[in-house]
Amino acid sequence: MGFLSRFTTLLLLLSLLSAATIFTSTEAYDPLDPTGNITVKWDIMSWTPDGYMAVVTLYNFQQYRHIQAPGWSLGWTWRKREVIWDVVGGQTTEQGDCSKFKGNIPHCCKKKPTVVDLLPGTPYNKQVANCCKGGVLSSWAQDPSAAAASFQLSVGQAGTTNKTVRLPVNFTLQAPGPGYTCGPAKVVKPSRFTTADKRRVTQALMTWNVTCTYSQFLAQKTPTCCVSLSSFYNNTIVPCPTCSCGCKSNTTLSGSCVDPEKPHLASVVPNPGKNGLAVPPAVQCTHHMCPIRVHWHVKLNYKQYWRVKITITNFNYAMNYSQWNLVAQHPNFDNLTQIFSFNAKSLNPYASINDTMIMWGVKFYNDLLMQAGPTGNVQSELLFQKETESFTFEKGWAFPRRIYFNGDNCVMPPPDAYPWLPNASSRHIMSPLLLVTAVALSALAFLLQ
Ligand SMILES: *[C@@H]1O[C@H](CO)[C@@H](O)[C@H](O)[C@H]1NC(C)=O
Ligand SMILES: *[C@@H]1O[C@H](CO)[C@@H](O)[C@H](O)[C@H]1NC(C)=O
Ligand SMILES: *[C@@H]1O[C@H](CO)[C@@H](O)[C@H](O)[C@H]1NC(C)=O
Ligand SMILES: *[C@@H]1O[C@H](CO)[C@@H](O)[C@H](O)[C@H]1NC(C)=O
Ligand SMILES: *[C@@H]1O[C@H](CO)[C@@H](O)[C@H](O)[C@H]1NC(C)=O
Ligand SMILES: *[C@@H]1O[C@H](CO)[C@@H](O)[C@H](O)[C@H]1NC(C)=O
Ligand SMILES: *[C@@H]1O[C@H](CO)[C@@H](O)[C@H](O)[C@H]1NC(C)=O
Ligand SMILES: *[C@@H]1O[C@H](CO)[C@@H](O)[C@H](O)[C@H]1NC(C)=O
Ligand SMILES: *[C@@H]1O[C@H](CO)[C@@H](O)[C@H](O)[C@H]1NC(C)=O
Repeated sequence: MGFLSRFTTLLLLLSLLSAATIFTSTEAYDPLDPTGNITVKWDIMSWTPDGYMAVVTLYNFQQYRHIQAPGWSLGWTWRKREVIWDVVGGQTTEQGDCSKFKGNIPHCCKKKPTVVDLLPGTPYNKQVANCCKGGVLSSWAQDPSAAAASFQLSVGQAGTTNKTVRLPVNFTLQAPGPGYTCGPAKVVKPSRFTTADKRRVTQALMTWNVTCTYSQFLAQKTPTCCVSLSSFYNNTIVPCPTCSCGCKSNTTLSGSCVDPEKPHLASVVPNPGKNGLAVPPAVQCTHHMCPIRVHWHVKLNYKQYWRVKITITNFNYAMNYSQWNLVAQHPNFDNLTQIFSFNAKSLNPYASINDTMIMWGVKFYNDLLMQAGPTGNVQSELLFQKETESFTFEKGWAFPRRIYFNGDNCVMPPPDAYPWLPNASSRHIMSPLLLVTAVALSALAFLLQ
């Protein structure tokens, strides 16, 4: 084999490896929620003299990604000269140029309208079922009954039969920031509706669906949380990796983050963090600069059980996290016996493996994670029954494999820094970095042979 082709092989190998290690959390496909998506369904309920009346419904089918205030906004592009006569249970953000109309003025004449939800407390005559929640949607695992939103559209200057109607294109979804990509509208089987007394079924005249998926990479987010670890068997506390979510800049100490001694000085000047992206300026100054830290403490060891304490701390002075959720992966979740003061539900992407849990706060007790400060934390304890075949305190087995907060992957300490058992000192676990280096070295040896 020539030097060049060997070199190409090496490059290919290295790029594959780095792609595998760096981009696992950034692509649209999420191994913990493989079918997670937001589906937008348009049901045409009636044809009108110049168009149609449709009910548009957003379903958040994502297991653990909810939509927080200020909520979703849905946009699209009309294919012809369609206008929106009226919206109930929502509104367009701009009316656009309706100067061609006399008498009856449309609600919106824009080629690319954007619809947002109405606020709670909207008058009843402006409401439809599932509307008016300020654009907030629960995740599917937390509360499927609060994971849908609807509004009703009267469209004019449009097709008036299922042959002449033109499906809108280029759907966009902000929820509330970027990160979602929507596919094309697809005509599907008309939706069926059961009346309240369950004695009659009606159906839409025509239905189309749009599927939108999330990617952390598109959202261009720096990490927003990190994980720290400790255990009863080793008094070292393994902190969040330094600069997990950004670096505390030395030159502009005041202004780039908030001194916990002077929280009232929370500044509004954004500062460039890691990768040149802005770190929220209201985050408390720490070595990790994350708005959220999740601490996993292995607390007690009983004969048949062991106990973990989880603490989520908010370092963000500008944010109360409502309906927060935490996803954790650990092999012993199969035998979780009890969880205190959090709700928990198994996420079961692959039927045979039951190692991932979503946890969230108890309503009116700790479902609101308060802004940074003395009350800015929530905590819970988990009791596991030991799975005799695999249970061990060695090799960091008792620590979580992954943690997500509100759907974003948290930065973990490297496995070789995990607290050791007192006399297991020489048993290192190979870190991904060491693994890459090892493979690179063997590839280099192959190259130079
Ligand atoms: C969207 O999510 C639903 C519910 O999980 C699933 O049935 C559907 O297949 C998903 N759609 C796509 C395109 O993945
Ligand atoms: C359109 O309507 C006709 C009946 O008027 C029906 O047979 C046909 O299936 C409909 N097509 C679609 C795409 O809904
Ligand atoms: C939809 O978006 C694509 C790609 O951005 C663009 O080429 C196309 O012209 C857009 N369609 C309309 C009707 O604006
Ligand atoms: C369209 O969306 C609705 C609501 O999410 C869903 O029940 C239906 O199965 C979807 N149809 C297709 C073909 O994906
Ligand atoms: C910031 O200061 C610390 C010590 O105060 C130093 O170790 C570090 O290298 C400095 N970082 C930069 C980017 O100057
Ligand atoms: C968080 O909630 C508390 C109590 O409801 C409120 O006083 C505070 O202003 C809120 N903080 C933010 C940043 O919204
Ligand atoms: C742990 O869970 C697995 C799978 O659910 C089960 O087969 C096993 O019996 C459980 N072990 C104990 C000790 O409960
Ligand atoms: C997964 O684990 C949870 C918690 O122990 C349990 O409630 C659930 O039944 C398990 N599911 C399966 C399919 O084993
Ligand atoms: C505790 O774990 C750390 C690694 O995080 C290790 O350096 C230290 O030696 C351990 N302490 C004991 C007493 O084994």
